[in-house]
Amino acid sequence: MTVKDLLTTADLTSADLAELIRLAVRYAAEPDRDSLLLHRDLVALHFTKPSTRTRVSTEAAVLRLGGVPTLLTAQELQLGRGETIEDTARVLSSYVAAIVIRTSSDEELRRFAAAATVPVVNALTDGHHPLQSITDLFTLRQVFADLPGRRIAYVGAGNNVAVSLAQAAALSGVDIVLATPERFAPDEEGLGAARRIAAATGATVARTTDPHEAVHGASAVYTDVWLSMGDPADEARARRAALAPYRVDTDLMAKALPEAVFLHCLPAHRGDEVTGEVIDGPRSVVFRQAANRLPVAQAVLHALLSDMLDGAERGW
Ligand code: CP
Ligand code: NVA
Repeated sequence: MTVKDLLTTADLTSADLAELIRLAVRYAAEPDRDSLLLHRDLVALHFTKPSTRTRVSTEAAVLRLGGVPTLLTAQELQLGRGETIEDTARVLSSYVAAIVIRTSSDEELRRFAAAATVPVVNALTDGHHPLQSITDLFTLRQVFADLPGRRIAYVGAGNNVAVSLAQAAALSGVDIVLATPERFAPDEEGLGAARRIAAATGATVARTTDPHEAVHGASAVYTDVWLSMGDPADEARARRAALAPYRVDTDLMAKALPEAVFLHCLPAHRGDEVTGEVIDGPRSVVFRQAANRLPVAQAVLHALLSDMLDGAERGW
C-alpha cells in the first residue's frame, strides 16, 4: 500500500485497490487465515454516527485477525470535553494498532490521521465512504470477470457513496455515469479527483440529470438513500420531490443491459430510492454486497497493518 491511512478512495493507486480486492478474495474464501496478525492488540472504533454494517463488520474483522475492538463514542472520550484531536490521536496511537473513525468532517479526520502514528481508516464521513467503494468494486468483480470497460450507473442523490464509488470505478478502469438532480449533484472536488484518475486509467466519469440516459448500456445500477446522515433533516421534503424521478424501479432496470445487477450500500428505504421489487428481486446483489464488507474490512486492516509492521522492521 502506498498510504499509511485510508481516508479517501482517491488516495489509493490502482495497484493498491487491486491488492485490497485480492486480499478480500482470499479472506472471503478463508476467513480465519492470519488469525494471529493483530497479536491481541486493540483497534479503536470511534463512531459519532450510527452504523450497522461498518461497525459490526469491522469488529468481526478485528476479532478474526486476532485483535480486540474497542468502541469509543464521542461521549466516552475526553474529545467531548474539549481535548484536542491531535492530543487524542497521539495518545490513542500508543495503545492501539489502528483507529477506525466514522464522523462528519473530512478535515477533522485528516487532522486525526496526521497526528496518529498508527493507521486511520475512514468508516464514512460526509464526503467519502472508501470502505464501501472497495466492497462495491470487489462485489462487481465477483459478478463480472470482464469488469474493466463496463459501465456503472449511479442514480439518485450525489453524496459520499457516489463520490467514493466514482473514484473506485476510475481506479479500476470502469466507466461510471452519475445521474442526479443539479441541486443534489455530487461534490465537484471529489468527482474531479475521480476524473483525474480516470484520465490515467482510460475510464470515464460522466454526469447527467437523466436517469434513463445513465442506465442505458450499464452493467450495474447503484443507488443510495436520498437523505444522508450529514444532510439537513429539513431538506427531506425537497429531496423527496426532486429525487422521485430517480427512483430505481423495474422500468429503469429494464433499460440497463440484460445482465445488469442492482447495488445499494444499505440501509435502504423501499419505495423511496428503490422499489421493493428491484431490491428484493433477482437482479439485486445487495446482501452479497453487505456480506462482502467483512472480508474487505479484513483486507484493509491487513494491508495497512502489514505495511506498518514492515515499516517498523525497516526502522521507519
Ligand atoms: N453501508 C454502510 O456503511 O452501512 P452502515 O451505515 O450500517 O455502516
Ligand atoms: N450516504 C449515506 C450512506 C450510509 C451508509 C449516509 O451518509 O448516510
